[in-house]
Amino acid sequence: MPAIVLVGAQWGDEGKGKATDLLGSGVDYVVKFNGGNNAGHTVVIGEEKYALHLLPSGILSPGVTPVIANGVVIDLGVLIEELDGLEARGVDTSKLRISANAHVIPPYNRTLDRVTERFLGKRRIGTTGRGIGPTYADKMNRIGIRVQDLYDTSILQQKIEGALEVKNQTLVKIFNRRAVGVDEVMDELLRHAERIRPMVGDTALELCAALDEGQTVLFEAGQATLLDVDHGTYPFVTSSNATSGGACTGSGVPPTRVDRVIGIFKAYTTRVGEGPFPTELNDQSGDFLRTSGAEFGTTTGRPRRCGWADVVIGRYAQRINGITDMVLTKLDVLTGLETIPVCVAYEVQGERFEEMPVNQSDFHHAKPVYEELAGWSEDITGCRTFDELPLHAQLYVRRLEELMKTRISVIGVGPGREQSIVLHDMLSSVEA
Ligand code: GDP
Ligand code: IMO
Ligand code: MG
Repeated sequence: MPAIVLVGAQWGDEGKGKATDLLGSGVDYVVKFNGGNNAGHTVVIGEEKYALHLLPSGILSPGVTPVIANGVVIDLGVLIEELDGLEARGVDTSKLRISANAHVIPPYNRTLDRVTERFLGKRRIGTTGRGIGPTYADKMNRIGIRVQDLYDTSILQQKIEGALEVKNQTLVKIFNRRAVGVDEVMDELLRHAERIRPMVGDTALELCAALDEGQTVLFEAGQATLLDVDHGTYPFVTSSNATSGGACTGSGVPPTRVDRVIGIFKAYTTRVGEGPFPTELNDQSGDFLRTSGAEFGTTTGRPRRCGWADVVIGRYAQRINGITDMVLTKLDVLTGLETIPVCVAYEVQGERFEEMPVNQSDFHHAKPVYEELAGWSEDITGCRTFDELPLHAQLYVRRLEELMKTRISVIGVGPGREQSIVLHDMLSSVEA
């Protein structure tokens, strides 16, 4: 069962990092295939807490080869900082592989990301300000800088000069900022080029060779289904394909090799940044979820917007990604609620929607239709089997499974690696 894709089923921060870490001991490779340091994954191992942005969470599992594939955009300074930070804590990062085709985030794109957001005012996206959008736009515009360009300084200089012809016009004439010089960009990009050189290679070839040898490869998405540039709540999305299809284009491993797709679904919903969110709670219940779930961004520290679980989104994620197993995270956060509403459909101007409306303005006006499920008060953080869960927690899980038309294979009952209830082995074949 060698190639497995793991994706977020909502708007991010579902607990993908913890799920990847949980699978880490059973896999040989963990591949980040989209996004960059806009991602923030918190992984708790014993007393140690790690916050990862650019590196795949698999880097924490000894024996795993972590890969940053072609679909990722790399801020080289952040990469080095993260590697040094982990090395200082005794994590071996020497096996990291980086695609020569991955794009790098030049400093002018960080500036452009931030000034564009300011310029947009009320229409802003609420980006992480890391230069992600402008760097993907450059890739599509064919003025991007790739990792391989770092090793041919003449080409690098020409490419930066070409990009700056456009960028400086925008910076100076539209945003009233200073023009950027070629040398300062060259200096920043080349500062760490030699250090990462041994890690750079043809990762598409390496991954296919590993699969041919029967090794297990886990593709770990950054962001999530509703932040996907094609399938998310556009334009309030990130600029990459965070859904399972992105694992193929973002790594060079073809769809015929993917065997399983694991969706990570939080027992309630959160969103960071702007954009529609039907089950959002701007009341005490929202505060309860934020406090009890510690819902503050790993990357920007922003308080996350919180709301009840939405199975219309769950079903959508199941369909768009082809999810074979769902991991239900943070069930423990719901402990103490008398009843738990779950959104089962939307109402838009008198019309009932069982599926995600294709028109964005319908989604903006969607009113959740709730089914009320009974809550539980017992502490579940110590439960390790399904039977140990209080009856109403069991029924909550079973009802979500039914509504989302997918099996739940793991239930998260706390941030720790061991705080998981495993119902099905996600690395083995699907049982009938
Ligand atoms: P990611 O971006 O999808 O990897 O998720 P984040 O790491 O940004 O956010 C998930 C947060 O929830 C992290 O702080 C995790 O440590 C924590 N977490 C993950 N699973 C569980 C769980 O089952 N219960 C609780 N209480 N916390 C969890
Ligand atoms: P993980 O991997 C939650 C959101 C931003 C913003 C939008 C666009 O931790 O789940 P960008 O900087 O990507 O151009 O911002 O996407 N966003 C995330 N929200 N979790 C993330 O990553 C996110 N990465 C980007 O808040 O709304
Ligand atoms: Mg996160």
